[in-house]
Amino acid sequence: IGGSVVLTSGGYGVYYAVAKQDTVGKVAFDKALSIPPLAESRTSSSGARVFTLGIQSGRTRFKAGATTSTWGVNGTYLGPTIRARRGEQVEFDIRNGLDRETSLHWHGMHLPAAMDGGPHQAVPAGGTWQPRWTVDQPAATLWYHPHVHGATADHMYRGLGGLFIVDDEDTEASKLPSEYGVDDIPMIVQDRAFNGDNQFEERVPLGGSLGVIGDEVLVNGTIGPYVDVTTRLVRLRLLNGSNARLYNFGFSDDRTFSLVATDGGLLPRPWNTERLYLSPGERAEIVVAFKPGEQVELRSYPSEFGGTLGRLDGFDDRLDICRFRAAATLSDRAEIPAVLGVAPDLDGEEPVKERSFVLASDQINGRSMAMDRIDFGVREGTVEVWDVVNDNGFPHNFHVHDVQFQVLTVDDAKPEPHLRGWKDTVLLAQGRHYRLAMRFRGHTDPNTPYMYHCHLLQHEDEGMMGQFVVLGEGEKVGVVPQAHHHS
Ligand code: C2O
Ligand code: CU
Repeated sequence: IGGSVVLTSGGYGVYYAVAKQDTVGKVAFDKALSIPPLAESRTSSSGARVFTLGIQSGRTRFKAGATTSTWGVNGTYLGPTIRARRGEQVEFDIRNGLDRETSLHWHGMHLPAAMDGGPHQAVPAGGTWQPRWTVDQPAATLWYHPHVHGATADHMYRGLGGLFIVDDEDTEASKLPSEYGVDDIPMIVQDRAFNGDNQFEERVPLGGSLGVIGDEVLVNGTIGPYVDVTTRLVRLRLLNGSNARLYNFGFSDDRTFSLVATDGGLLPRPWNTERLYLSPGERAEIVVAFKPGEQVELRSYPSEFGGTLGRLDGFDDRLDICRFRAAATLSDRAEIPAVLGVAPDLDGEEPVKERSFVLASDQINGRSMAMDRIDFGVREGTVEVWDVVNDNGFPHNFHVHDVQFQVLTVDDAKPEPHLRGWKDTVLLAQGRHYRLAMRFRGHTDPNTPYMYHCHLLQHEDEGMMGQFVVLGEGEKVGVVPQAHHHS
């Protein structure tokens, strides 16, 4: 809790003390959008695709004047886009060049717990880590980010993170726009607050108990970018890579666009909309149609989301994000297929177990995250239904490691169309019950937990997180090895 705004926990009134942000018309759009390079890889003797990632500190030029002290992966801010195909074995050679421990977590990936990159796989300062696994899930826009115990918000804010795109035969055969950086554009959307010396402000009154909410929006590290459009259809891979800010995306002329994929991959069919909200950690792939010679801005608009939540700080703002400038002639080779992916089908399964999760006061079910406490074990191969509720006046979302889930219902009603695909993170309107169905697949280790938590990073760091293990036949919840819960 910082700055001049006094916060009372749980009260809604507090948010009105914060000035509403409106940057429409104030953004120059004079810098080309930076596109994260595709990570280079080599093939190992066993046929695995091997990536080398160096975590480092450095200085980045975001604006005129002084450079900003930042962290990055194979660079000074953010990291390369990793790309691998379903069925491929991937290996990473990760070196932590920072002066303190950190980790890299593969958000949205199904993988063994020991490779997950969560708080139990911290890489010490100067240390290395070599995770490996076989990619076994449908094509999707996933991402990677630090997940070190109690300091995720700080490490993320300094600039660590990047996209991890999974490809498969279905998406390669589809006619969706797919030329990386040309008509298939990654967009990591983040807010930052700069101080007078162009350094990232770590504590500003804007966010209060949400953490930092910045007043400048960066896409792939570019403030106020433009994109020169050369094709009629463009796919945008949107990631809300912010610590706490919620975005309600839309275009300045309120045009309709097509949502084609959510966190875990393609929707069964495209959904046309004018607005789409994303909370921290969520991704969406949208396809936008352009006319020759036109210009339009991607913005974030105030949202009505969830009644009281819609009026929360950071979701009541109007922000200019990126300008699209269409060329006088546009090539036209892609299309939006009427049928995209396979619909989630866990609603037809009989869950073996139902659990409930109440998020309030930086805790889940009245408990704070503890490195050495495994909250429960789930059975390999089974389907569970988790009933999740946000029980206080702050925005929270809910993310589960290792799985993609199906949102069965929101307060007994069918979820909105954009929540009907595979998800790994979902925004929780206050007081509503979200029933999430998920199937736990293999990779058992009773001593190494996966996480579930709020993805507003300050909440996660303050303890709104728990741990579970995936158990094989006859196995019992184990004990976290002592060495793993030092911090
Ligand atoms: Cu994106 Cu547990 O995190
Ligand atoms: Cu939260």
